[in-house]
Amino acid sequence: MLNLRNLSKSYAADAVALAPTNLRIERGSFTVLLGQSGAGKSTLLRCMNLLETPSVGEVVSDTLGILDSPAKIRAHRRKTAMIFQQHQLLPRLTSLQNALLGRIGNHGMLRMLLPLPEAECQLALDALERVGLLEKAGTQVRHLSGGQQQRVGIARALVQQPDMILADEPVASLDPASADRVLGLLREICRERRIAVVASLHQVDLARRFADRIVGLEHGHIVLDTVPATLDDAQLSRLYTTARAPATPTHFAPAIAA
Ligand SMILES: Nc1ncnc2c1ncn2[C@@H]1O[C@H](COP(=O)(O)OP(=O)(O)OP(=O)(O)O)[C@@H](O)[C@H]1O
Ligand SMILES: [Mg+2]
Repeated sequence: MLNLRNLSKSYAADAVALAPTNLRIERGSFTVLLGQSGAGKSTLLRCMNLLETPSVGEVVSDTLGILDSPAKIRAHRRKTAMIFQQHQLLPRLTSLQNALLGRIGNHGMLRMLLPLPEAECQLALDALERVGLLEKAGTQVRHLSGGQQQRVGIARALVQQPDMILADEPVASLDPASADRVLGLLREICRERRIAVVASLHQVDLARRFADRIVGLEHGHIVLDTVPATLDDAQLSRLYTTARAPATPTHFAPAIAA
């Protein structure tokens, strides 16, 4: 459903965060990005919905084509939900109001200040029910636990009716039981609604248990792309122990020429 073609990102001339990368993401698959801090996981995720503008290369959607205009990027983002480590919920709003924020992309901020159609409220209630939090619909999210807040984050993503969910360390600040529940939910939702989920994680064991596909990054390079069943332990330990030189502009010179 989404192709990254020869995509690279440099934040400065001598600092390549993502070397030229080709990656196809399929509907209904749960992809986990692994790699040491600074490997480029967040950069790759943020390039997928053009929150970062790639330095070279393109993002191609099966439905919209090359995402090369503001209108196409807006349309792509409407169908691409994001989930963050710190939830990014509005703490004084209720779970229901936070879930409804998933409609902002469809209505804009000002329209969100007016009462929304009943169908939209129903969508948000259904999403809260899906994540097991219907009884907390009227509770301000600041009164919820971290795991519950992350589930409200998932509900907000679902209200967006996305084709793809990008999750940057969605369980980094959760206890193990809550992390399991959040990742289990994401995997179920991915399968039942044929949504592509791409999540960055730091816990290899969780990647093994929940992912359909594991992509390993090292200094901006994809060095591993496999399924958990054939995950090679030696490769994995290299991913976390090698101190290879960071990607340099030389790495992406051929892509510029291409
Ligand atoms: N906005 C920015 N400006 C400059 N450099 C950046 C910026 N964002 C990321 N970088 C650099 O790009 C590289 C990749 O960073 P990125 O945040 O993508 O890594 P990561 O794998 O998500 O790391 P972590 O596991 O710590 O979240 C790093 O060297 C980082 O310092
Ligand atoms: Mg990151």
